[in-house]
Amino acid sequence: RQKRLTPSDVAALKGQQPIVSLTAYTTPMARLLDSHCDLLLVGDSLGMVLYGLDSTVGVTMEMMIAHGQAVLRGVSRACVIVDMPFGSYQESKEQAFRNAARLMKETGCDGIKLEGGVEMAETVHFLSQRGVPVLGHVGLMPQQVNTSGGYRSKGHSDAEADAIRRDAKAIADAGAFAIVVEGTVEPLARAISESLTVPTIGIGASPACDGQILVSDDMLGLFNDFKPRFVKHYAELAGVISTAVETYAAEVKARHFPGPEHTFKPRSKN
Ligand code: KIV
Ligand code: NA
Repeated sequence: RQKRLTPSDVAALKGQQPIVSLTAYTTPMARLLDSHCDLLLVGDSLGMVLYGLDSTVGVTMEMMIAHGQAVLRGVSRACVIVDMPFGSYQESKEQAFRNAARLMKETGCDGIKLEGGVEMAETVHFLSQRGVPVLGHVGLMPQQVNTSGGYRSKGHSDAEADAIRRDAKAIADAGAFAIVVEGTVEPLARAISESLTVPTIGIGASPACDGQILVSDDMLGLFNDFKPRFVKHYAELAGVISTAVETYAAEVKARHFPGPEHTFKPRSKN
C-alpha cells in the first residue's frame, strides 16, 4: 500500500507548492479526491452538509468517528485530518487529548483540527507534545457562531486583524503543523502567511495563503440555495441530479424503465 502524506510532509510544502485540500465525509468521495489532494479534512461541516443541522454545534464525536472511518477506507495518498467537534476539547487540555486520541485510534487519521486562537494555545501545545498532530483554525470559527455574531468575514478593523494575527502566531508557536485561516480579508491572510513558518490553508482567505481548502459539496455545486462569495462552483451537480431524477421518474411512469437490457430472463431449459 502506498503511504499517506504525513502532517510534516504537508508542512514541508510551504514555499514549494500550494497545498491542495478539500473536505471528504464518505468512502466513495474520498476515493475520487485522494489522488488530487495533499490533505483531506473530515470537517464538522458535515453536520450542515449531510445532516441538515443549522450549525456545527450539534456535531458529535460519534458522527466524526463514523465519517472518519469511512474516509480512511477510501484514501491511500492524502493526509487525513478529522475535526474535533464542539464540546470535545474546549473544557481542558486533558479532555482534548482524550478525545483527540480517540479520534486517531478509532479512525486511523493522521491528526486532528480544532478551532481557536490564544485561548487554545496551551491545549495545542499539550497535544502536539504528546503525539497528536494539530491543524489549527483561526479567523472565522464556525463553532463560535453563537458568541461571535454569525458568519461575517473578519479582519476589517485593525483591532480584529491584530487579534487574529496573535491567534495564528500563538497556535503556530504551540506546535500546530499548519493553520486553516477562514473568512479573513486579504492583507491579514497575507501577513499571517508571510510571518509564520508553518503553512496557512485558506478558505475565503485570499490567494495569499500557502494552500486552499473548500467544502467539496460546495465546489461541486451540490447546493443551489446559497453560494458564499468565497466558493467557486467547479461543477453544477445539483442540476445534474435533478435532471437525472426527473428523467427517471418520467421513464418509470411511462414504463420505459426498466428496459429489456435491465431485465432478467429465465434461463433456457433443455
Ligand atoms: O468543517 C469544515 O469543513 C472546515 C473547513 C471548511 C476548513 O472546517
Ligand atoms: Na470545521
